[in-house]
Formats: sequence, C-alpha cells, structure tokens
Amino acid sequence: MNTITITCDPLVDAHVHLRTGPLLRTVAPETARYSDMALVMPNIAPPVRTVDDAKRYELDIKGVIRAASEAMDATFRPWFALQLCADTTPQVIKEAAADDSPVLAVKYYPPNVTHGKSDVRDLQDMRPTLSAMEALEVPLCLHAEVPGEDPLRAEAAFIPTINWLVQTFPRLRIVVEHVTSRAMIEAIKGWPKHVGATITAHHLFLTFADVMGARLHPHHFCKPIPKTPDDLIALREAALEASPKFFYGSDSAPHLNAAKRSAEAPPGVYTAPVAPMLLVDLFFHAGKPDAFRRFTRMNACTFYNLDETPAFKLTATCDLTAQEPPTISQKEDPHWFFAGKPMRWQVTRTTL
Ligand code: DOR
Ligand code: ZN
Repeated sequence: MNTITITCDPLVDAHVHLRTGPLLRTVAPETARYSDMALVMPNIAPPVRTVDDAKRYELDIKGVIRAASEAMDATFRPWFALQLCADTTPQVIKEAAADDSPVLAVKYYPPNVTHGKSDVRDLQDMRPTLSAMEALEVPLCLHAEVPGEDPLRAEAAFIPTINWLVQTFPRLRIVVEHVTSRAMIEAIKGWPKHVGATITAHHLFLTFADVMGARLHPHHFCKPIPKTPDDLIALREAALEASPKFFYGSDSAPHLNAAKRSAEAPPGVYTAPVAPMLLVDLFFHAGKPDAFRRFTRMNACTFYNLDETPAFKLTATCDLTAQEPPTISQKEDPHWFFAGKPMRWQVTRTTL
C-alpha cells in the first residue's frame, strides 16, 4: 500500500464549546483526542462568569474526560473564557488574572446575535472592566457581529466598534473570534500586533450557498454565517499564511439533531471529530506543513503565553492508492460536520 504518514503535534483549539450534561460527555472527549489545550467558551446556562464558575466547569470537564480515557485526561488542559456580563467588575478581572486561575480571557457576545444570552448591549458601558483587562493583560475575545444587521454584513459592521476599542484601550489584547469576511481579515492586519483572530475549520470549507443553496442545510448553519467565495479565499489565504495574528479556534458547537432539524435551528457546526483531518488535508495538499504547525498550535501558544511543549503526537495517514477515499462515518447524535463525505486523511493520537 502506498501511504503518506506524517507525525505532528496536537492542535491547540483556541475556541470550543463543550456544553454540559450528556452533551458534554459525548463531545468533550472528541476535543481531548486531538488537542492538548483548548479555550472553552462560557455560553452555557447560566454562563461562566466568575473564576469559581470556571473551576467548577473545569472539574466537570476533567471528570468526563477521565471517565472516557485516562490517557486523554493526562494530556488535556482546558482553559476558560469568562463571559462579559453587566456585573463583570474589575475585581472579577483581578481574580481571573491570578496565577492559579484557569481563566485565560473574557468573551463578549453582543445580545441576540447567536446562541446564549448576553446582558451587555454597549461595550462603552464596560469601560472600568475593559481598563482592568488592559492593565492586567486579560485578552478580550469578541463575537464581532452587530445585532440587527443583515447577517451577511454584521461582521464588517462591527469594525468601527473594534476601532473604538483599539483607540480607547491601546494595549488591550483582542481576539476577533471566528472571522468570516475579507473585510475583517484586512482590518485585523491593520490593527496592532496584539489584535489577532481565530479561524474555524468549517469556515475554511463553507460558503453561504452551502447553508442555503438548493436546499437548507441546518448542520452548516452557524454564526457568523459563512459568506461569499471571495471571503472563503481570503480566509484560506490567511490560514495558509499563518502569520502570528491568525490561529485556529474550531468553534466546534454541537447541538442535538432534534434542535438542528427543528423549525428554529440554533447556529453551530460540530467539527471536533473531523477538524484535524480537514486541516491536515488543506495544509499538506497546499504544501504548507510549517504553516499547519503555526496555525494550529504555535500562534495561539504565543498569543496566550502558553507552554507549547506537546503532551502527545498525532499521526496523519493518507492512502494514495485508494480509488475513492473513504467517507467519514457518523457516530451518534449530534451530527458531525463532513459526515458521509470523502476524506483522504485519517488522524490518530500517539502517546509520547
Ligand atoms: O455558530 C455558533 N454557535 N456561533 C456562536 O457564536 C455560538 C455557537 C454556539 O454556542 O452554538
Ligand atoms: Zn463560539
């Protein structure tokens, strides 16, 4: 058999939704299988708003992963983002910045743009908290969409808000999460070097037509909504260049099939089980192994000041002789991104 085999470091997933309860049990091991660190998003109910909330959530996550696999438990380090709420005081930021805190960042969701609740309509109301974040070097992760805007323009419409943040808090570290548009990518390149962005795996493969083409595809529906072919090209160029400003955050966001296939499907694409294969395919076929490492690991470690020593290795294989690549098989609910589609690469973990 003529196969290519590549050994690489695990991914650092700088943006993931692990949920709670039974869904947490299903999805968390899929992230821990391929990542040794992840930044876990706070939009559970109720949201993660204090360091104590994050520590409790950490215990739940570690317990679930330990029950699934002791090997994965030994290699997986979850970090947390607190949700920016009206009562996120400078004191909360001080606790988040403490040495023993598992909190790496604070996440802002404008109200009514995506899954979950938010009670901060205007970032201008949060000046003391944002000043504390700037002083204590706690990054602000942004869901960058303007509520009520046309969903195809909502991200670009948020650029003036980030301009205001950059001018008002010149040292505030900012991550624009899950970028989807050429306009935002260009804007990020123009801001100082402590303003970076995450890019998901699914946004590197989808356009608006994949969400609403001849048929409606609820499993491709996410926020921000995938955009035009030109925006997709800009995203791929940014990922494949992998300058220090751009890094991988899966935004793997599972919802049970019953909800996704209902009349009001929530946004979110569940990519954790397949994202490594998709990324290996994209980067290695583009001849960019170094960019793969920067995009999926190094850039996030540098931005968040994390120890980059890998806790295990991944082995990726591709069968060159296969007439037709095998298709990705779906396990249980929730539906996996790319399920039923051909995938040339397989990725497995190897203990160091
Ligand atoms: O598609 C999305 N799903 N985008 C988000 O911002 C939130 C996420 C979720 O939590 O389901
Ligand atoms: Zn998200």
